Amino acid sequence: MQLNTLPVGLGGGSLLQYATRGPHQGMGYLLKTPEDKLVMIDGGRDDFGDGDYTRQLIREHGNRVDLWIMTHAHNDHFGALSRILQDTEALDFEIADLRFTFPPLEWIGSVENGGSLPLVQEFYRQLGRHGIRSTRLYAGETIECGGLTFDVLSDGTDYADYHTINDTSTVLRVHFPSRDVLFLGDLGAESANALLSRVPAEALRCDIVQMAHHGQGGAERNFYEVVRPKIALYTAPMWLWECDIGKGRGSGPWQTLKTRAWLDELGVQVSCPHAYGDYLLI
Ligand SMILES: [Fe+2]
Repeated sequence: MQLNTLPVGLGGGSLLQYATRGPHQGMGYLLKTPEDKLVMIDGGRDDFGDGDYTRQLIREHGNRVDLWIMTHAHNDHFGALSRILQDTEALDFEIADLRFTFPPLEWIGSVENGGSLPLVQEFYRQLGRHGIRSTRLYAGETIECGGLTFDVLSDGTDYADYHTINDTSTVLRVHFPSRDVLFLGDLGAESANALLSRVPAEALRCDIVQMAHHGQGGAERNFYEVVRPKIALYTAPMWLWECDIGKGRGSGPWQTLKTRAWLDELGVQVSCPHAYGDYLLI
């Protein structure tokens, strides 16, 4: 996998967007803080090697995750950790602080034909088996970790207003010393509009953004008009990046090309998709 290094002037620490190791979409970020702590956001799926690769990255960075945040209850985000736990008898690295706010199991079972329910239940079972406790995230709180601060802008506790798990995504604004990064998870159009109505525009205005829902079918143009990013992080493999179902560019049903056009019109200067490898922002 190609590693692209992008000097964006974070002012300390680094942000690695690592692509899923298989052909699927998924999301994983590794953040090194200015004080050399390790933070993970999501990790990828429970199959196609995402768990192994996530585990390898943690090993290479000292076997201690100081903070691990899961954005929402979909397998292509929390599945890598679930896979690591399923494949491990006794965990040989430390997770000092695991945080997520997933909707109640009953609700997860009631949406999307209940497809995520057994995967979330297995994740919980594995956390229990390894004695890993998690803490809920709350909108409005700020988490400090090793010289980074994480503002929680949205926590999905309004899940009852929605019909998709994506709409329950946690939204984070991460403050590096000199630049901020906005993480949207898989935020849907409805929840993005709710967020717009809840927080001031300046809380969302951000030069670097993780594009919602892998860059298509999530938050819409009106949301990005407020964010006005210069650097767009797309967790989209090539087929999704080019909207190619196997019959050429634009042949698929996804909205990626439309989203990319919006962002071009709004002045994005650099786009970083999984399609072109891993990206290390420094
Ligand atoms: Fe996703």
